[in-house]
Formats: sequence, C-alpha cells, structure tokens
Amino acid sequence: MKGYLILLYIQIAFGAFTIPLYPIHKTPEEKASFYKSLKTFKAGAGPTNVPLTYNYEYYGLVQIGTPPQNFQVVFDTGSSNLWVPSSSCYSVSCSLHHTYNHSKSSTYIPNGKKIGIGYEAGSVTGFLSKDTVTWGGIQIPGITFAEMTSFPGTYWSSKAFDGIMGMAWVAESEDKITPVYQSMYSLGLINADSFAMYLVPGNGIGSALTLGGYNTSCSKNDWNWIPLLNEGFWEIKIDSITVNGKAIQVTGMKAVIDSGTPHLVGDSTIVNQINAIIPTVASDCSNIGSLPNVVITLNGVNYTLTGQDYVVQLNSEGLTSCETGWTPENFPSSLRNVLILGDLFMHVYYTQFDYGGSRIGFATAI
Ligand SMILES: *[C@@H]1O[C@H](CO)[C@@H](O)[C@H](O)[C@H]1NC(C)=O
Ligand SMILES: *[C@@H]1O[C@H](CO)[C@@H](O)[C@H](O)[C@H]1NC(C)=O
Ligand SMILES: *[C@@H]1O[C@H](CO)[C@@H](O)[C@H](O)[C@H]1NC(C)=O
Repeated sequence: MKGYLILLYIQIAFGAFTIPLYPIHKTPEEKASFYKSLKTFKAGAGPTNVPLTYNYEYYGLVQIGTPPQNFQVVFDTGSSNLWVPSSSCYSVSCSLHHTYNHSKSSTYIPNGKKIGIGYEAGSVTGFLSKDTVTWGGIQIPGITFAEMTSFPGTYWSSKAFDGIMGMAWVAESEDKITPVYQSMYSLGLINADSFAMYLVPGNGIGSALTLGGYNTSCSKNDWNWIPLLNEGFWEIKIDSITVNGKAIQVTGMKAVIDSGTPHLVGDSTIVNQINAIIPTVASDCSNIGSLPNVVITLNGVNYTLTGQDYVVQLNSEGLTSCETGWTPENFPSSLRNVLILGDLFMHVYYTQFDYGGSRIGFATAI
C-alpha cells in the first residue's frame, strides 16, 4: 500500500507534468485487456512499516483470512513457522487469545496435516491450513500456516501475543514450509529481499518492523555486514568477545540474532566466562554505571554493550530491580558455542536481515 503513497508524492512533486493520461481503447476487447493488465500488474511495495508493541516481547499485527481476522504475533527471527490459536482449540490459553476460525474465511483452503512446534515451555500442536495473510497492509495469498489446538501448561496463557511469525530460513521450518516473508518476496509483493527490526528499550514505544528494506531514520546508518554461516537461523561467526580487556577463551563461537529472545542467552561455555568477569549486578541497580563493557567483534567490527545495555531492569509496583541479561544455558550439540543475541543487543544495534544477500547488517540505533 505504501507503494501507492510514494507514487502519489512523486506526482505532486512533479506537478502538472505527471498527471497520467490513460490510453484510448478502440475496441471493447482492447479495453478489457487493458483492465486485465492493470489487475495483474503487481507493484512491489517499498519499505513498509509494521508498528510493534512491547510487553516483555515485541509483537505486532498480522491478519489471516477474508475478511481479515486480527492476530498479535511475535516477529521471531529465531524460528520459521507462522502459527495462531485455532477456534477449534478449547484450552485456557485459547480462550484468552484471538483464535482463527477458518469457517469465517472465504479464502481458506483445508490441509489438516498435524504439526507440533517445540519450545522450551513444551510443544504447541495443531494442524496446517492455507489462507491469505495480510502483513503490513500487503495481501499474500496461499500461505500455509498452523492452527494450534493444544498449548502445554500455563506459559502461553500469560502471554500478551496470540501467535508467532517465524522469520528465519526454510531449513528451520517445521514441515519445510516456506516462511511467509520469502513467499511475499517471491510473489513480487515487496521490492527488497530484506527486513529490519527497530526495538526501542523501556516501554518499546516507536518500535517497528520494516518489510522490504529499512528505515533510514532508525540508526546512524553506519551499516556493517556479516555473512551468514548457513541459511537456517540468522547465524554468524563471532571473531572474539572481550570483557574488561580479557578475551573469552572459546574457539568457534557463533552468534544467532534472535528477536524472539529477550536477553543474551548463550552456551554456558561462553556465558560462564563472561559472568565470571562481570561483578554481580546489584539488585537495587546501584552498580550499573561501574559494570565493564562487553565487546563482541563481528567481521572485524567491535559491538560494545555497556552495563546499561546488558542489565535487565524490572519494574514492579513502582520498584525497580536489576539483574544481568547474560544467561547461561546447556545447549544441545547443534547450538554448541552459540551466543543468542536477543532484544538487549538489538536495542543498541538496529538490525537488517538480508535474505537476498545471505547476511546480517547492524547500524547504531538512535
Ligand atoms: C521511520 O522511523 C521514524 C522514527 O522511528 C518514524 O517516525 C517514521 O514513521 C518511520 N517511517 C516509516 C516510513 O516507517
Ligand atoms: C466459526 O465460525 C462459524 C461460521 O460463522 C460458526 O458457526 C462457529 O460457531 C465458529 N466457531 C467458533 C468456535 O467460534
Ligand atoms: C576492539 O575491541 C578490542 C577489545 O576491547 C580492542 O582491543 C580493539 O582495539 C578494538 N578495536 C577497535 C578498532 O576499536
């Protein structure tokens, strides 16, 4: 939709010279074929803005079906499937969220294949369906996604968002379903094969996902690019990590850039060393200013996180408490020596995910 607006601005800028004149059609057939060509002409949209809301996670609007049914989803660069709760789900979590009712959609195409997606909190299960997805105002027909019918435990009930839009690569997709972004691009609905995520710390106001490029107003535009190690997650090589001048001694470190991870979660081989150097974060937040910088070097460029950047401030009943964002995990062997750079990193560095160039770009966020 933004594409039309841009066209409009150009017409205004060039004044009377650009008033379009439609060709005169000599026969009804010619006229019919002209209108047909208009209808099938697909103008790819320019950078398109999707505002994000923050409530522990960043999420935004996606619509499914005709007429559109609204869902709030986490745009998760650490997974590759789209799922929303189904109207045929009767768990507590579904009664607390928006559910997709395929009977109400004229563009729904049944599939029915069972699918399960594993999370730390357990597996969410359901079945596949196909429908039109509207994202950033752009309609994408024929998207296969999951209608989820079973949510384990109470974890999902407490979440402000309804579902997840996976924005990693098809290799990480359950059932090898093409991720929605890549369908949108290959259908010619968007011009640039990249998207960018601007995550504002604190209350998150002003956060946005840009589809088809990036927004020049979100950063200092000092872009640096890092090639992907493989097209699965958004995974890149870490040259080195230095804390207070001391280098972390782990060979073959890798970073995964994951908008769906709030903090900095890493293989314990890496994070235990980082936490051994950083003094304990005072729960009353009094030592944030004296905490050492952590420097992560990526493709020769230093990315610095200060104490202010990597400490998590929790507000509860008017009281602020602090804890470190560095979280050690005993990862499976597929994530050996991996550090997940989540939202705390993306607050500082505006991130561009470039499918076309198979690379990640960072620029200093403003
Ligand atoms: C770009 O970002 C700025 C600053 O966040 C915002 O005000 C503006 O609306 C954004 N522009 C578009 C086209 O999304
Ligand atoms: C789904 O929509 C159909 C058609 O409007 C309606 O009959 C049915 O009750 C709805 N299902 C649920 C669970 O809301
Ligand atoms: C990058 O950081 C390392 C470790 O702090 C430092 O030794 C090096 O001089 C820095 N390089 C640049 C170009 O700033």
